[in-house]
Amino acid sequence: MAVETPLKGNIGDSIRRKEDDRFIRGKGNYLDDVVLPGMLHMAINRSPFAHARIKSINTAAAQAVPGVVAVVTGELLAQHKLAWMPTLSGDTQAVLATDKVRFQGQEVACVIANDPYVARDAAALIEVDYDVLPAVVSPQQALEPGAPLIRDEKEGQTNNHIYHWEAGDKAKTDEAFAKADRVVKLDTFYPRCHPSPLETCGIVADVNPATGHATLYMTSQAPHAHRTLFAIVAGLPEQNIRIISPDIGGGFGNKVPIYPGYVVATAASLLIGKPVKWVEDRSENLISTGFARDFHMSGELALRNDGRMLGLRVKMLSDNGAFYADAQPTKFRAGLFHIVTGSYDLPAAYVETDGAYTNKAPGGVAYRCSFRVTEASYLIERLVENAALEMKMDPTEIRLKNFIQPEQFPYVSATGFEYDSGDYPRAMQVALDKLGYKELRKEQAEKRKKGELMGIGVASFTEVVGAGPGKHYDIAGLRMFDSAELRVHPTGKAILKLGVKSQGQGHETTFAQIVTEELGIPAADIEVQEGDTDNTPYGLGTYASRSTPVGGAATAMVSRKLRDKAKIIAAHLLEASAADIEFDHGKFFVRGSPSKSKTIQDVAFAAYTNLPDGLEAGLEGVTYYDPPNMTYPFGTYLVVVDIDRGTGQVKVRRMVAVDDCGVRINPMVVEGQIHGGLTEGFGIAFMELITFDEEGNCIGSNFTDYLLPTSWETPKFEMGETVTPSPHHPIGAKGVGESATVGSPAAYVNAVIDAVGHLGIRNIDMPVTSDKVWEALNKVGAAE
Ligand code: CDP
Repeated sequence: MAVETPLKGNIGDSIRRKEDDRFIRGKGNYLDDVVLPGMLHMAINRSPFAHARIKSINTAAAQAVPGVVAVVTGELLAQHKLAWMPTLSGDTQAVLATDKVRFQGQEVACVIANDPYVARDAAALIEVDYDVLPAVVSPQQALEPGAPLIRDEKEGQTNNHIYHWEAGDKAKTDEAFAKADRVVKLDTFYPRCHPSPLETCGIVADVNPATGHATLYMTSQAPHAHRTLFAIVAGLPEQNIRIISPDIGGGFGNKVPIYPGYVVATAASLLIGKPVKWVEDRSENLISTGFARDFHMSGELALRNDGRMLGLRVKMLSDNGAFYADAQPTKFRAGLFHIVTGSYDLPAAYVETDGAYTNKAPGGVAYRCSFRVTEASYLIERLVENAALEMKMDPTEIRLKNFIQPEQFPYVSATGFEYDSGDYPRAMQVALDKLGYKELRKEQAEKRKKGELMGIGVASFTEVVGAGPGKHYDIAGLRMFDSAELRVHPTGKAILKLGVKSQGQGHETTFAQIVTEELGIPAADIEVQEGDTDNTPYGLGTYASRSTPVGGAATAMVSRKLRDKAKIIAAHLLEASAADIEFDHGKFFVRGSPSKSKTIQDVAFAAYTNLPDGLEAGLEGVTYYDPPNMTYPFGTYLVVVDIDRGTGQVKVRRMVAVDDCGVRINPMVVEGQIHGGLTEGFGIAFMELITFDEEGNCIGSNFTDYLLPTSWETPKFEMGETVTPSPHHPIGAKGVGESATVGSPAAYVNAVIDAVGHLGIRNIDMPVTSDKVWEALNKVGAAE
């Protein structure tokens, strides 16, 4: 029995998540739960080398294993023109390697067998003769003259450079720097990390040989877009492809790209005529699927002596791996990194970005952030921290002095973003009060006298989420709008079908609440469906916190469409004119006489039984919503740390998070989203790292090397909020899903620098481990 909740589920009600009932009882339906009659299993043979020429592939031993049905190589795929596929950033990527392998873990051949273990054993028997080549393991090395050419198969590609992209105004920025009293600089690296969702990626491809219909059960954050891309890449008629994205155990951007495994399993099912299942293991997920970050950044901030910022200059070099497969809108070569001006009223900014191929896995996904906003937020917040340090200003004072002020919104930034709304000083004040900032600064001064290291970190971030508008933002050319279809049944119960797709964010609850607010149908009476392309309207999917700003807006708009029709029906029932009908919390009445009313349930029944002449039956509709702008959630995070001079160990004593995501649909869900993001930010700041040795071997290929935070080390979070509605969103909500991961790493690291900055330590790159801290202390003679 589901737990009854006394709340109806209006906006602002923290009703329990409807979906948790089945998850807690083990009744979810994840990819690996999908079992079809006659289903075969696929396993992948991957490259042990980062860079090597393939001399030959011998599949005889694998083919001879009892139970093996087929072995697929790049050569076989090439015969069907499927050996290479397009990436989301307009590059090409090998599905199965034919000429060379370009990163450790790259897909080389696949075995299809009647048992998953047979498939894995046989995949290990494939003999590949490699001629090992020198590996390129950093973008700086990649761009050196004479560096080994990674993409030698690309016509016209003579080096490892991928793109150069700029934003802002160079001349105006140069002028600002010429006028500055001082310039503060920071070179920093945001290392490669990985979304590592609990459920890895997988597919069950079921191509019916008789009808040609392909049903693809996929761990997809964007099923509709994937359907279109499958149709284009595989040449299958789109009406014959149905993508079903079942329950997803976390995505965080990792399930946006199309991976070779999806393509080979589909091709194999097509060729063999049976369903084929492929599910990655943990190491496969970590070494070969969409990574995040890997940005080398240099920032310069021009300031007046009173702390006023005049200009920002940024250079960034990204390590994109062997294929440029960043999941981002095509116009923006480094995602939305140019939001690097952050929360500050910066009159001038100029951002130069370059990307390079290396012998590493491709990816560059929006890991719990809008496209590359996390890196930008980290750079500006670290830079401002260092400016405060150098100018001996309080880090809150320098921020307050430079914040975009509430009356300046809508605010156009120096790199071209139009911020919708904000009150940055208020968010900071709420955070400072909650922390008891002044007292802690006193405590810090006392401790410092005794030689103890305590730091208070500040980060005030602005996130940009909710892509489109479609005229600026797309995925592989598909404009970023989204959709909602609402059907109200005669008994007043409803089905809401969405183009977005939850991976754990609680859409079945929160999107129902939007309908509750707009139509008065209790959330418990609304079934929310997502993830089946045959049964939901076309949408671009869920990533970069776009669901609420776009899909949520579509839901409000379609509900309003139905409400307008409901008013006509209510007028008929109340024998009044539709123009005189008012609506309040699920009741329709004639203006001025609320006691005589019809409920939404009465109206729904009448929509099928008692209509005014000439009105179409039914109460249903669909809305495609293209937002006029992104939304700009923001907040201030404060972190208190204590550092042990003997070991370099950093202990997070307190973490205060004040977020503003406009109107909160379900405050409990929002808090859960923020908790997740703060935990991920904590992991990235202190432990998560995918790195490579000089031969390109991936270090971080399992959870003993790639450290994720557990509840044991994760700090306790103290939450606060402010509410600044988005003026263009129908219910005033801004997206929130990713903000905390965007804002918090800088707060954690700033706290460390605040503790040791007076000793002359200005930067420690993430992850900030005990040995790095101890080494930095030792270097300045402050370690014990
Ligand atoms: O796109 P994604 O679902 O990851 O991100 P989101 O739109 O920011 O929403 C994350 C979850 O928080 C969803 O269940 C939202 O409906 C909910 N949310 C909310 O209740 N109120 C807001 N103002 C923003 C999000």
